[in-house]
Amino acid sequence: MKKEQLTIPYFVVTENELSEEDRQLVELAKSATRTSFSPYSHFSVGAAVRLSNGKFLHGSNQENASYTTGTCAERCTVFYANARYPEAAVEVIAIVARREDGRFTPFPVSPCGACRQVLAEVEHRFKKPMRVLLFGADEIYIMESVGQLLPMQFNADSL
Ligand code: THU
Repeated sequence: MKKEQLTIPYFVVTENELSEEDRQLVELAKSATRTSFSPYSHFSVGAAVRLSNGKFLHGSNQENASYTTGTCAERCTVFYANARYPEAAVEVIAIVARREDGRFTPFPVSPCGACRQVLAEVEHRFKKPMRVLLFGADEIYIMESVGQLLPMQFNADSL
């Protein structure tokens, strides 16, 4: 038997260490939390993407009284981006969450498993790493690709 180990590299930075472009994306994701429809969880999540054609788009979590039919901010945003610009790769996604008291979470909120799978498909589809910026008021995590969020992923190459 052989034991293998995976390591997940990511950067931990503060807001003032972000590049101007990344800061802009985080600001967009922050403002996107205001468009969240989350009367059940009271947890407002915003996401923003920068595309290879230079466009910035945003989305947010959209809940439903039939809970399971709602969707997370990440999926809302990348599906919207791919529907509007099907030829454009998603180069970066920023994700921000705000609690009921209106404050941003101090530590980053990590995308759920379903969103990781969807983000992985988008990354695979465009054959280009998608950087992931997970915002927290105290610290921000940066991953160089979705592959780092979802190692050993199932994708079209597995079929
Ligand atoms: N949510 C997101 O939008 N993204 C995440 O990464 C985690 C969870 C949403 C789903 C639901 O509307 C609310 O946050 C509480 O789970």
